[in-house]
Amino acid sequence: MQTINRSSYFIELEEKHGAHNYHPLPVVLERGEGVFVWDVEGKKYYDFLSAYSAVNQGHSHPKIVEALVSQASKLALTSRAFHNSKLGEYEKKITELFGFDKVLPMNSGAEAVETAVKLARKWSYEVKGIPENAAKIVVCENNFHGRTTTIVSFSNDPDASNNYGPFTPGFVKIPYNDLEALEKILESDAKNIAAFLVEPIQGEAGVYVPDAGYLKSASELCKKHHVLFIADEVQTGIARTGKLIACHHENIQPDILILGKALSGGMYPVSAVLANNDIMNVIHPGQHGSTFGGNPLACAVAMAALDVVEEENLSERAEELGQLFRNEIEKIIEKTDLITGVRGKGLLNAILINDTPESSTAWNLCLKLKENGLLAKPTHGNIIRLAPPLVITQEQILDCARIIEETITDFKK
Ligand SMILES: Cc1ncc(COP(=O)(O)O)c(C=O)c1O
Repeated sequence: MQTINRSSYFIELEEKHGAHNYHPLPVVLERGEGVFVWDVEGKKYYDFLSAYSAVNQGHSHPKIVEALVSQASKLALTSRAFHNSKLGEYEKKITELFGFDKVLPMNSGAEAVETAVKLARKWSYEVKGIPENAAKIVVCENNFHGRTTTIVSFSNDPDASNNYGPFTPGFVKIPYNDLEALEKILESDAKNIAAFLVEPIQGEAGVYVPDAGYLKSASELCKKHHVLFIADEVQTGIARTGKLIACHHENIQPDILILGKALSGGMYPVSAVLANNDIMNVIHPGQHGSTFGGNPLACAVAMAALDVVEEENLSERAEELGQLFRNEIEKIIEKTDLITGVRGKGLLNAILINDTPESSTAWNLCLKLKENGLLAKPTHGNIIRLAPPLVITQEQILDCARIIEETITDFKK
């Protein structure tokens, strides 16, 4: 097989045999290490997506690989019909690290969000005293919480929800970053509201960072009205934004915390819902679960992934290098009219392309970035998310800023 044809071979296989539910950039990856990935032709790229912030610890981190391999060769899955020798240790570690009494382990991010929704509803009936089936959960416009039928029931992205109805009732949408809207709905209907579910930064929507103080005031409003504050930190959590969780930027502790993605360093699907006893204890045996949730392999991998976050000071790195990265992009913005802005926190950032959301400029720019050795993907039209693994060095950040500048300088719409 000629090298030039290897990529097309794999792309055609996917095209023919796989459902067309994604539109990937035309690059076929086969190896990763730290901040780099290599395609099947051997070309090396900086990974500026990090599998949507799952690979915060870098590709194939040796400590996480070691945990995976040694646990896989010992015991991978028991189901929760039996205890296993990794689950308790993992539960102790994660609850102590994030400051909660208990954790409920799941696999994907969407499953963890579903779990949080069920937990909040159950709490609202059994503790808060909302009449049966009347509980509402307040969510934000332009949210992204995953792909299950219930979750897409409260999405306002038509692609996510069209023709997947009938939908799950019980969700009320308010604008993001709008305290007045939250206050209004809580003032008028708190007796029927179980929870407010929010992303501390809306990642998929285009890295929308709310005003300083929004999360803190929102959590205080929830407290005042006996409504649970649920933070979906599947994308923002585990050091990505410069703190262990993005809520820590405002010194708040959510009532329910949802984690996923980087909880395993991208090695294996591991997600979690954390809460204190007064909430978590409403769930009893048989009332929720998952064959794979809390399996020994997931627990071993997650413990190693959390160790790496602490040992390599990934939060501090993200904070410092994110600042440097945004400064470098600001300098580029002064020299071009192709980018109108950069926004983000830590190493979760986005650049805004000077074109309409329907244009293909951001996509075409990503194709050029790929040619120049940097992989990124547009999110919602004219916004490009830039989120490298947090193990990136200062020198590499500067090198990437150079690639971005050169690509933009040469770019023709
Ligand atoms: C904030 C947020 N919640 C939930 C999810 C869903 O996670 P998963 O794709 O693992 O189901 C995502 C995925 O991008 C996310 O960004």
